[in-house]
Amino acid sequence: MEKVAELKKLAQEILKCTKCKLSLTRKNAVPGDGSLNADIILVGEAPGVQEDRQGLPFVGEAGKLLTSLLSSIGLSRTDVYITNIVKCRPPKNREPTKEEITTCLHYLRKQTSLIKPSIICTLGRIASETLIDKKLSISKEHGKLKKMGKITYLPLYHPAAALYNPKLKDTLFADIKTLEKLSKNAKITLNNFNHYKKSKI
Ligand code: URA
Repeated sequence: MEKVAELKKLAQEILKCTKCKLSLTRKNAVPGDGSLNADIILVGEAPGVQEDRQGLPFVGEAGKLLTSLLSSIGLSRTDVYITNIVKCRPPKNREPTKEEITTCLHYLRKQTSLIKPSIICTLGRIASETLIDKKLSISKEHGKLKKMGKITYLPLYHPAAALYNPKLKDTLFADIKTLEKLSKNAKITLNNFNHYKKSKI
């Protein structure tokens, strides 16, 4: 099956998922949003109240901050793919349990294997521990790139944490510049490649 069709089928599966108890309390599961051909995936923790209502990731206050964070480096939400470790809202916005994460993670793995990004930004401790290293300390490792296989990971503070802490907000805006540099390098490589191809003709 074609990639876009597979991703849409997967989203339908997520919307109907009943593999864990979060399905009993959610209004809407939140598969993800953005470009299905994105080179960058941003991964948060789990949907909050607004996301649960609208079925879209990062549409509340933390989402507004994420949107301005992206626009500070010239990206819009449609240039990237945005999703979460856990696709349904935990009641009262509690952290997802280990079991919920383990049960849900195969959806993100499938999304990643279909979208094939070269960069994954993990937003906050839960996403960073789950995808990069279970012992990762976000206060020490934020903004530092980790290459694992074909994917470069960039752990960042969660935008919700930065909402109430001006220092973390400044750090988040500084750390996202790393992403700007990475995507610029990617463009330069591509331009050089095109130039090389042309010069050979
Ligand atoms: N926080 C998250 O981690 N994800 C969302 O989608 C919204 C808030």
